[in-house]
Amino acid sequence: MKQSYRCWAEIDRSALRHNAKIVRERVGSAEIVAVVKANAYGHGLIGVAEILADEVQLFGVANLEEALALRESFSHPIVILGPALPGERSTIAERGFIPTISALEEAEDFNRVAHRSPVAVNFKIDTGMGRMGVPEGEALDILKKISAFPNIRIHSVSTHLPVSGEDSDYTRDQLLRFGEIMTQFRAAFPIDYKAHVLQSAGLLAFAGHAGVFDMVRAGIVLYGISPLSETGDDMEIAHLSGARHAGGKFYQLWPHVYRSSENAGRNVVIWLRRWISMASFQS
Ligand SMILES: Cc1ncc(COP(=O)(O)O)c(C=O)c1O
Repeated sequence: MKQSYRCWAEIDRSALRHNAKIVRERVGSAEIVAVVKANAYGHGLIGVAEILADEVQLFGVANLEEALALRESFSHPIVILGPALPGERSTIAERGFIPTISALEEAEDFNRVAHRSPVAVNFKIDTGMGRMGVPEGEALDILKKISAFPNIRIHSVSTHLPVSGEDSDYTRDQLLRFGEIMTQFRAAFPIDYKAHVLQSAGLLAFAGHAGVFDMVRAGIVLYGISPLSETGDDMEIAHLSGARHAGGKFYQLWPHVYRSSENAGRNVVIWLRRWISMASFQS
């Protein structure tokens, strides 16, 4: 029997590619991490990754489970953006994923469990998010210790901008501080690693801060949503295209009679009838 769906989401491949091109225009030659965590924001992990595979250089996922699912079909470098559980570290090391680390102890453990080749890590600094990352005042000291570990390679150094869509003064200050930290790092450790800061709001509003980043982490913008404001102005500036349209089958039409007094003085009551269609959506 042919499978028939009661409700569905239509993903627009060309919209996804179009939005990736907008990101590319904004960020010049920086590498793009397509953030496909949480089942590609509900659009379907593998399908979205297939569409974006030629447009981006890396994928970003939330956890090991998503990284493993993605690796079945793609050879791109995969950054695990969320913290790894201690029991996941040896698999991450063995499979060559890029974990995000926020503490010396995590690096020590990856150094211990890596056998075949060094683990490439994303070293995260907390410049204001308050959720992950080493405190910025300790970053240089910790990076110095980590870079001496034989089984660790610093793939990248990053931070997160929590209010880049709302508070440009705070964000500019964060970018400045991160830039200063990177200058210190590069002077102390002139080895090859990438810096990344900008997520969607950041790359739409602050991509001019070249020099602070060699990579960007694009999430919601790829799916056609501007995080900058609710007004839609930024959507026009960025010319984003919505990537998802929902569909459902109608199963009933309900007559609905209602009272309206929408005339100028609100002194005439009119009874109107409209049809409400019931569709089989499920959340
Ligand atoms: C570390 C990190 N960077 C980037 C992103 C992408 O953010 P956005 O969807 O705002 O682009 C996320 C998403 O949660 C994230 O956790």
